[in-house]
Amino acid sequence: MSGIGDLSAAERNKRPIFDALAEWLAGARTVLEIGGGDGTHARYARQRLPHVRWQTSEAPAHLRRLTAALVDAHDDERLPPPLALDVRAAWPSAQYDAIYAANVAHIMSEEAVAALFAGAARRLTADGLLCLYGPFFDTEEVPGEGNLAFDRALRARDASMGIRRREALDALAADHGLRRIARLKMPSDNRLLIWRKDGANTC
Ligand SMILES: C[S@@+](CC[C@H](N)C(=O)[O-])C[C@H]1O[C@@H](n2cnc3c(N)ncnc32)[C@H](O)[C@@H]1O
Repeated sequence: MSGIGDLSAAERNKRPIFDALAEWLAGARTVLEIGGGDGTHARYARQRLPHVRWQTSEAPAHLRRLTAALVDAHDDERLPPPLALDVRAAWPSAQYDAIYAANVAHIMSEEAVAALFAGAARRLTADGLLCLYGPFFDTEEVPGEGNLAFDRALRARDASMGIRRREALDALAADHGLRRIARLKMPSDNRLLIWRKDGANTC
């Protein structure tokens, strides 16, 4: 779990996330990251996934911070300059083999989460993967005290925030032709959820 300014969380979780992602992204050539934050995962992706062109992005209000954080790491082939992307607005026109976002679903409103799934379905190549990391609730699992407290704190801070239910995301995904193919347990009661875009085109 992390707050927007919590740099150490991204440092702490990057290794387990990319250890898990490596096999899923072995064949990917292009990845779009949403809500890149301070660039920690983008920078690490360049190291761990050298075959991937990692296009990170941020909501316009936070783009400058991300761009500044990565200015010494820009590489047109593998780590191009971050794009401005609010998932509720226009998306880049390119197609991506995978779309990745860490710790964004509980920060975004439900409307924005729905826009994320809709946009991802449009921008993924056939068989492309949507990979979301973070805390999620799941009816098949007893919620941890830490995530329950985090969810309460989020909702007290902003009623539009909150930990999302895995089943609700699966339903949203299905509406857009995405089928969940992985639900991986990660440290600190987080999960890595992966959906695949079925077939040639579903949008
Ligand atoms: C908790 S931070 C996570 C940052 C980074 N991914 C990490 O794991 O450290 C949540 C991120 O979601 C982004 N975000 C929130 N709403 C968004 C939206 N509508 N479109 C795109 N990004 C959004 C924020 O700008 C922020 O960078």
